[in-house]
Amino acid sequence: MDYFYNYLTMESALNLDRIAHSKITKKFRTDNKQLLFSRGKDGTVWDDLGRPYLDFVMGYGPVIIGHANIEYNERICSLLANGMMMPGYSEFHEKYLGHLLRDRPGDRGAFFKTASEAVTAAFRLAAMENGRLGIIRAGYVGWHDSQVANSLKWHEPQNSPLREQLRYTQAMRGVGPDEPILNWVDLQLESLETLLEENAGRLGCFVFDAYLADRTSPTILAEALAMCRKAGLLTVFDETKTGGRISPLGYAHDNALGADMIVLGKALANGAPISVLVGNRELMAHAEQARLSGTFSKEMVTVYAATVTADILERPIGASADGWQELGTIGTAIAATITEAATRVGVADFVRAEPVLGGSMFELVYGDHVLGNKKWRSELLQAFSAEGILLLEGHPSFVCLAHREIDHEDLTQRAVRALRSWALECEVHHD
Ligand SMILES: Cc1ncc(COP(=O)(O)O)c(C=O)c1O
Repeated sequence: MDYFYNYLTMESALNLDRIAHSKITKKFRTDNKQLLFSRGKDGTVWDDLGRPYLDFVMGYGPVIIGHANIEYNERICSLLANGMMMPGYSEFHEKYLGHLLRDRPGDRGAFFKTASEAVTAAFRLAAMENGRLGIIRAGYVGWHDSQVANSLKWHEPQNSPLREQLRYTQAMRGVGPDEPILNWVDLQLESLETLLEENAGRLGCFVFDAYLADRTSPTILAEALAMCRKAGLLTVFDETKTGGRISPLGYAHDNALGADMIVLGKALANGAPISVLVGNRELMAHAEQARLSGTFSKEMVTVYAATVTADILERPIGASADGWQELGTIGTAIAATITEAATRVGVADFVRAEPVLGGSMFELVYGDHVLGNKKWRSELLQAFSAEGILLLEGHPSFVCLAHREIDHEDLTQRAVRALRSWALECEVHHD
């Protein structure tokens, strides 16, 4: 143990030299240094210097009950007595899916570790059905080549000048004239119609990040799915951020949109890696021939974790009928507190926070002056971090059940200090 801690301290002194980090993990900084985390409890995380932070990143969405929840940990530990991995799937997998899909009797599920895997599986199943490799995509749907190549900054607001610049154009395969990957950018039916017409016969799959549903309506989305289906595409609702977070199965199920496949991920297991691809029996019957699984698909720890997570979230809590409803209340209140702080500082025209899809996620919303200003925006995160608050920008932030214990007066004061120092540092002002 001592050796491990000494080793960690030494490595952090070297500034994370050995970790192949992504842009994402570099975002969290205090005193202009990237943070290295040592532990979490409930809604708070600590860095390696022992500094606490209110965590609204939640591992980018998976943590939904809270860090190191005692009941969650103890129940998983006792389930571990059954082992980690069997030669094939276990009764725990079967029972979990039976419960998860109880309102979708015709459906089956395939287990994966990450949502990128599940979305790749969905693309392959679609191509097995209709023989076409082209894809229409709206939103971030994973990091595999065909998911991320030539994509936008999808989480930026529709009117952001930073949104449409194409990214990830290097070193990607499975993208080209025979297998076009097209972006449905404006979420207008006219532009979708044009994409479908101009690429008729080459498109096999339509995939939609359900988080973007906040920017349109169930009626438009139902029409979009109908248009895609008419053109012979299979439709996928990617509920990686939303499934298990806004409700047990997410937006498409709740709004009876009838997508051919649903991808669930992130929040299902409070941080343990699991993703489930859901589709009807006939479609999922291709899974074997399409070779849709890997060594760890049948691993059991995440299914223990997912079972316990669902069990905890299904219970009434506070005035809410279940955990999902409570998460909406919690995030809505946090967004209101941040907005209230911005109002007190006099910068609410520049930045405020708004709940997304009911409130289990919230996002910073910028005025025109700040929207295109990357420097101001990243300084804002640093200002919050210096006050012990970690959140996301240009992406929704996430809450967990443990955040119901937040002291809102304390949060207001910290947010006020953060916003005040940000406004001073950046000289935020109207032209
Ligand atoms: C909508 C959506 N789809 C897919 C993914 C990819 O998930 P993973 O990182 O588990 O591969 C993400 C991750 O942020 C996502 O938000």
